Amino acid sequence: MGCLQYFVCIILCLLYYCPQECRSVTKPNIIFILVDDLRHLSDGTINLPNIQKLADEGVEFKNAFAQQALCAPSRNSMLTGRRPDSLRLYDFYNYWRDTAGNFTTLPQFFKENGYDTYSVGKIFHPGISSNFTDDYPYSWSEYPYHPPSEIYKDAAVCKDKFTRKLQSNLICPVNVMHQPSGTLPDIESLEAAVDILSRNNSKPFLLAVGFHKPHVPIKFPKEYLEQIPLNKVKPQRHPYMSHNTPTVAFHPWTDVRHRDDIARLNIPFPWGTMPYDWSLKIRQSYYAATMYVDDLIGQLMSWVDRRKTIVVLTSDHGWSLGENGLWAKYSNFDVALKVPLIISLPGQEPKSIHTPVELLDIFPTLVDYSGLAHNITNCQNSMDKSPLCFEGKSLKPLITDETKSVGNYFAVSQYPRPSVYPQYNSDKPRLKHIRIMGYSIRTKRYRYTEWISFNNTLFTIDWNKCYGVELYDHLTDRDESNNLYLVDKYKNIKQYLSRLLRSHVNRNYN
Ligand SMILES: *[C@@H]1O[C@H](CO)[C@@H](O)[C@H](O)[C@H]1NC(C)=O
Ligand SMILES: *[C@@H]1O[C@H](CO)[C@@H](O)[C@H](O)[C@H]1NC(C)=O
Ligand SMILES: *[C@@H]1O[C@H](CO)[C@@H](O)[C@H](O)[C@H]1NC(C)=O
Repeated sequence: MGCLQYFVCIILCLLYYCPQECRSVTKPNIIFILVDDLRHLSDGTINLPNIQKLADEGVEFKNAFAQQALCAPSRNSMLTGRRPDSLRLYDFYNYWRDTAGNFTTLPQFFKENGYDTYSVGKIFHPGISSNFTDDYPYSWSEYPYHPPSEIYKDAAVCKDKFTRKLQSNLICPVNVMHQPSGTLPDIESLEAAVDILSRNNSKPFLLAVGFHKPHVPIKFPKEYLEQIPLNKVKPQRHPYMSHNTPTVAFHPWTDVRHRDDIARLNIPFPWGTMPYDWSLKIRQSYYAATMYVDDLIGQLMSWVDRRKTIVVLTSDHGWSLGENGLWAKYSNFDVALKVPLIISLPGQEPKSIHTPVELLDIFPTLVDYSGLAHNITNCQNSMDKSPLCFEGKSLKPLITDETKSVGNYFAVSQYPRPSVYPQYNSDKPRLKHIRIMGYSIRTKRYRYTEWISFNNTLFTIDWNKCYGVELYDHLTDRDESNNLYLVDKYKNIKQYLSRLLRSHVNRNYN
């Protein structure tokens, strides 16, 4: 588009007559990169040059938290802008349009406002929770793309050093050429995404790209292992559960335990810990798989015109790498809830923001920055059935000036349990088995959690039936290994956080 044409467009659009061919001038494209199970990697163990470049050039949120450390509830919450309590989704087994309300999703909002919207790889969790269609056609202009080689995701393709057989291992470095289809799902997703980017897109577009790794099985091109030799891998600092943390806070990481290579170790259920050498090997592979995804992100970004594109990079939740004796997600600990969050906005100077924010905030933030005249309406409570209201908030004031930004900046998350003591289904209880809900609040300094009674048919909670309380001070204990809830010195802060948490959660039960 020439200069004069551009000028005419601006004038016309300002006069509320914005012809179709002009709209792309004023509307930025959006790339939404969602990495599966990528925890916030702040310890500097590994180099992620492409994610780092995005962070250095964009707005990086150093304290961003998921609403629930499980794929489907976290993704549906992030993409509808509502909490798991409002969607009544804590497992994988209901679709909000059928059971909670006909809520507008993030991609749907842009689709209904003149964008072409594309889903590549894992954006919605596949299955019932997105009606087996990734919420197509509501959310997407084209049928979502899934990489064909995903059918081999749990196949026995990992060469095992000990048994010399091909197994379904947790740790699975592979020779890509020798894979059943000669490729890996995330490589196929990258190709599909580049295909979309290299089209002649006449309309503005939102392209969501969901990479599957480092989700288990930790399968990745084996050459990435060379970038992080085992002797460079640091062990977790607190490999054991501390005695003063309530049992309900723990989970038995069955998806890790049941992979062929780990099952052979016969780790006692539920309290046995991972052998030291295996802890290092799992950490190594998780890092290597993350470097693999970082490379794919770099290749994707080389196709993106950053001057007219908003780029968001995040994950659905974190992943414990042996801290407090835990592996995988499924908890209310920081390592399971904290995610990378980078928002790169054309013309915005780079900055780092330390104020706690939530994945819920992404949707209203994008609406705020989209240039589409739209009110950002807060939902009244979880019974608010309006198609478009938000339980999160726009992060624009925070991005504009963190020091001036007032308001309640904290993150509230939750995790369900079937029992006080870890059992076979404590990782992923189905709704009908949930008896306890752990509500957790994270301020800049503290994490405070109450595990309380939950009624799975009436959807009610009882703060007086409490199964565990946790308070961690991140100033002195960023590993959350020392529960301070009974320490006298913290009595006042404990009361304050309890009141804050309850008032925030109770809003959803009015
Ligand atoms: C749900 O919302 C969509 C998109 O606005 C609309 O097409 C559909 O008819 C609605 N369904 C119901 C049952 O209201
Ligand atoms: C979910 O999928 C089914 C089967 O394809 C379809 O009949 C139903 O209308 C879908 N639900 C919604 C809310 O669109
Ligand atoms: C895309 O548009 C450009 C300029 O309008 C044109 O030269 C090019 O051939 C088009 N490419 C395709 C694949 O249609």
